[in-house]
Amino acid sequence: MSEKLSAPVTIASLEVENVKRIKAVQFAPAATGLTVLGGGNNQGKTSVLDAIAWALGGERFRPDGAARDGALAPPHLRVQLSNGLVVERRGKNSALTVTDPTGRRGGQQILNEFVEQLALDLPRFMESSDREKADILLRIIGVGDQLHMLDAQIKSLYDKRTAVGQIADQKKAHADSLEEYPDAPAELVSAADLIRRQQDILARNAENQRLRGERDRLRDRACRLKERMDALQEQLRELHDSYLETMQELEIAEHQADGLQEEPTAALEAALSDVEETNRKVRANLEKSRAADDADAYRRQYDEMTARLTNLRQRRTDLLNGANLPLAGLGVEDGRLTYNGHTWRDMSGSEQLRVATAIVRRLNPRCGFVLLDKLEQMDLQTLAEFGVWLREQGLQAIATRVSTGGECQIIIEDGQVQTKPAQWQKGVF
Ligand SMILES: Nc1ncnc2c1ncn2[C@@H]1O[C@H](COP(=O)(O)OP(=O)(O)OP(=O)(O)O)[C@@H](O)[C@H]1O
Ligand SMILES: [Mg+2]
Repeated sequence: MSEKLSAPVTIASLEVENVKRIKAVQFAPAATGLTVLGGGNNQGKTSVLDAIAWALGGERFRPDGAARDGALAPPHLRVQLSNGLVVERRGKNSALTVTDPTGRRGGQQILNEFVEQLALDLPRFMESSDREKADILLRIIGVGDQLHMLDAQIKSLYDKRTAVGQIADQKKAHADSLEEYPDAPAELVSAADLIRRQQDILARNAENQRLRGERDRLRDRACRLKERMDALQEQLRELHDSYLETMQELEIAEHQADGLQEEPTAALEAALSDVEETNRKVRANLEKSRAADDADAYRRQYDEMTARLTNLRQRRTDLLNGANLPLAGLGVEDGRLTYNGHTWRDMSGSEQLRVATAIVRRLNPRCGFVLLDKLEQMDLQTLAEFGVWLREQGLQAIATRVSTGGECQIIIEDGQVQTKPAQWQKGVF
């Protein structure tokens, strides 16, 4: 089969007879941009789209009640494509034939190469979950693996940081709750040292006592000798030397005893009795300062993690910004598709249509058309902008809208194209 490989395939013209609500409809949609099928309710607008989907999408798109009630002839579909293929369904079984410009025949397989199923069934994309939509987008722009990796890193680091932050807060609260004694010494007091000093003083005092006792003994002895001198006048001479010697010793002893002074132990005793209390305070201060250090360490770890998170998030943003997005403003947050930062549910109806169209268009670049039902959610201004955007994209859209206004290129009434609609305004879209 010869077909132009590069240009996206669009619908050149179509004929539908006796499908669902359609009696006979025939038109050639605009090559790019919007072709709006207007009309009142139940006139057969959606039936036209259903017929196109059945013609190009295969048996799974066959409507439940494909043949029009009361029709004398079976359904007939004929779609001429921009690549020259002619697709037809006709006969009792609505058998498919695909014919190329040289007259050669083929089947559904040829159509599947350039017909994107979601382009025939946009609601299927629109009704898919947020996660499925995001996955489709990531598949299209080819950064899914990297993004998943960054998301996993961000989630893991975020969870770890949350845990560290909680610990840091708890540690800080604990440190704040501990008692502090600004008047306590910085280091623990040694009881042994105090006791040793006390013992030294006691030893010196004992020596003093001993010297004082010696003085007293010598006084007694001098006294006794004097008495004996008196009593033993005759022994005076012999005793005189001894007396003088004793007196000399006495003089030294007196001298030594005179300079003696008592050292007080009261301060040390007080310190000794305070040692437990003081040390309790010192320990309390040390514990508080350790707890504060601990809390600070966790806070620093938290801050460092915040910096890494910011970096990861920036890389994630850069990754998406650097990707070739089907529509500016598209993104993926927490595994969900977003447009200008809003999730699918928060997008307006017209934004949803535009996003869906842009994404589906990229799924198979060879598919140059998309079917859009219920375009009444777009106001006229949005509709006009959408038409311009479609043309810029080189995309053909066949849409339906409950309206008979000038924005509709074709009016469907009672299963047929209304001839010469009064509101026809050629070239508006
Ligand atoms: N096989 C059939 N033969 C005849 N009428 C059918 C058949 N199948 C569905 N219908 C009728 O066609 C009408 C719906 O057609 P369709 O969905 O094309 O209308 P519509 O113009 O899109 O309407 P709306 O504006 O409400 O979406 C319904 O009234 C339905 O009962
Ligand atoms: Mg409809």
